[in-house]
Amino acid sequence: MAEGSQLIRGLEGVVAAETKLCDLDGAHGRLAYAGYSIDDLARKATFEEVCFLLWYGDLPKKAQLAELTAAMGAARAIPAEVTRAFALMPKDTDPNRPLQAAVAMLGMFDPDTTDNSHAANVRKAIRLTSQMATAICAHHRVRSGQSPVAPASDLSHAGNFLYMLTGTRPSPVVTKAFDASLTLYAEHELNASTFTTRTIVSTQSDMHSAVAGGVGALKGPLHGGAGEAVMRTLMEIGEVANVDAFATQALATRRRLMGFGHRVYTAGDPRAAILKGMAEEACRQSGQFKWYEMAVKLHDRIHAAKKLIPNVDFYSAPLFYSMGIPVDVFTPVIAAARIAGWSANIIEQHDDNRLIRPRADYVGSKARPWRPVEER
Ligand code: ACO
Repeated sequence: MAEGSQLIRGLEGVVAAETKLCDLDGAHGRLAYAGYSIDDLARKATFEEVCFLLWYGDLPKKAQLAELTAAMGAARAIPAEVTRAFALMPKDTDPNRPLQAAVAMLGMFDPDTTDNSHAANVRKAIRLTSQMATAICAHHRVRSGQSPVAPASDLSHAGNFLYMLTGTRPSPVVTKAFDASLTLYAEHELNASTFTTRTIVSTQSDMHSAVAGGVGALKGPLHGGAGEAVMRTLMEIGEVANVDAFATQALATRRRLMGFGHRVYTAGDPRAAILKGMAEEACRQSGQFKWYEMAVKLHDRIHAAKKLIPNVDFYSAPLFYSMGIPVDVFTPVIAAARIAGWSANIIEQHDDNRLIRPRADYVGSKARPWRPVEER
């Protein structure tokens, strides 16, 4: 890189895109999708309405919602080849890998695979959102030695997901909490995985290729993989009575605690506040209140000591656990929600594209003379 360049580690604070999708005000802890506050959307909208908002720019009218719901429902089936491939994969592999592979495979079967027009991208967004949910659940069933559960056409996207995962129809209360969780995870501006998807399509590559990359970025513990790590931390603590000793030790050893801290939010993550309430209710109803109590106690101790805020992944962990979602499926669940935002960002990027190609400061050796291998 030429002289005078200014390295910004981790691209902190760098603005790399214009977007109409997500308005993230980190200093005031506010988040809105296309002008609608996350609080209203999580409490009042369905995930299908949020998908419409992200893909079409505004909330749907009744007929538009019915049309999208029907299209998403019709797109739930996945090719038999994908399910057969799951059977060939190691049973103990991290489910993010089969999901990544499934997204790549779905690209091989999609009729619009390499068509990056706006209309084709919206069609692919609908298909991928439905098919990723089916693929995640089918993989979990297959690795558990069970047959995949066929999608239920009378259930919402959220209700059908839990049904395909567990084989049991979820209660309305659980369905609403899961639906709201999908909304809370649907979109979040230029987080690492969304930036990854934008970078991939900026080369004029396609949606399936980008989303496979997005899954790879999401699964890291500093990003979407944090929820799973939070639950493993709570399990490591084991009991409410152990939280204090754990926190003291964690603070003394400067341990990085998953589910705490955020690059952009300084005044609190508004999604965590909503998820906290839902986790309290779900943990109480499922008879697993201790996970919620432990989370609250840990939150209080860590916040008091280090002013670190809990992020979206902190309270989603006890919430998802109390719903019966296996811990290693937490991150695929986040992918099943974030596909709405990834695909919306991919559409925006393709509609107004410029290759994303930053520079690096070279800090290696100065020019060196070549020496044949025998003389080195
Ligand atoms: N536990 C302990 N200390 C922390 C934590 C944490 N979770 N997060 C930040 N800190 C401390 C760091 O040690 C550092 O302190 P220092 O300056 O005394 O060394 C300071 O806060 C700044 O930390 P950075 O890592 O530089 O902040 P950055 O903006 O790069 O990190 C991140 C943001 C990656 C989210 C970080 O807070 C973290 O690792 N959190 C845990 C992982 C996590 O929960 N990720 C999910 C994020 S939300 C999502 O992606 C869905």
